[in-house]
Amino acid sequence: MDRSIPDRNLALELVRVTESAATFASRWIGRGDKIAADQAAVDAMRLMINTVSMRGVVVIGEGEKDEAPMLYNGEAVGDGTGPEVDVAVDPLEGTRLTALGMPNAIAVIAVAERGTMFFPGAALYMDKIAVGPGAADAIDIEVSPTENLERVSEAKGVGVNDLTVVVLERERHDDLIAELREAGARVNLIRDGDVAPAIAAAQAGTGVDLLMGVGGTPEGVISAAAIKCLGGAMHGKLWPRNQEERQQLLDAGYELDAVLTADDLVQGDDVFVAATGVTSGALLRGVRVVRDRVETESIVMRSRSGTVRRIQASHPLTKIQSLTKGAR
Ligand code: FBP
Repeated sequence: MDRSIPDRNLALELVRVTESAATFASRWIGRGDKIAADQAAVDAMRLMINTVSMRGVVVIGEGEKDEAPMLYNGEAVGDGTGPEVDVAVDPLEGTRLTALGMPNAIAVIAVAERGTMFFPGAALYMDKIAVGPGAADAIDIEVSPTENLERVSEAKGVGVNDLTVVVLERERHDDLIAELREAGARVNLIRDGDVAPAIAAAQAGTGVDLLMGVGGTPEGVISAAAIKCLGGAMHGKLWPRNQEERQQLLDAGYELDAVLTADDLVQGDDVFVAATGVTSGALLRGVRVVRDRVETESIVMRSRSGTVRRIQASHPLTKIQSLTKGAR
């Protein structure tokens, strides 16, 4: 195929899927029910995903078939035409954030050529470091957090004390947080949701320089897809929580010492990502009702062209209400 000729940009279809998930989930912001919020997002994503012209297979979804009746791993999605692709979905990344009305919840989907996405399997957790294009060659997950800060500071031409690092607030990160503070960086602790800050680190003007620490592997693959589009860098290392998990991963053939780059996590070179804000954060504004309309903000990107779009949409409230009957 002649790659200089413009072709269909699937991300522009995918954004309807994330807008829909974000809008449905937003009905549950601050209502204390993360299960209902997640279900609303899944239902909405399911409603729209089969309109997208692709022959997709869910590689990263809501889990195993029996426990997840919709968007389960292995499910065929799309309208059955167009390219054969792997699909990674997180209908609501930040279920607790949504239930508690906290910032940075998003709906997100990533698509790449069939067979090119890393399959997390039993690898639930991954240690991650992500940065934007200005420091793409500077990071190395094998060196200390302090050294990474120094390298990023040099690459960006700013002091370490001007760097903001986002870290999930977890006990496992106590040493990391102490070291980052000791080195002089600003540590922005988050309750949940490490995909939005990974994407934010790769976008100028968000106030986020790095994401560091251990989070979900599926979220790591989705973040890697976005970083491939935005031109930053990400390193990941599988992080078994105990000896049993370690043995399980070794038995399944995973290499625990391997440093996985964004290209290892998503090997395709035609990657599409769409994300829509549910609650407002550094990356995206959340869903808002303005008079009789619902407003959404999304980011839409494609690796091959490097195009990044921000899309503001305004949807009639009556239409959303007719689709979300049952939500409070
Ligand atoms: P939700 O399931 O509430 O959406 O949380 C997602 C998330 O915060 C991810 O962003 C992160 O990678 C992972 O969970 C962290 O896992 P844990 O909460 O077990 O530390």
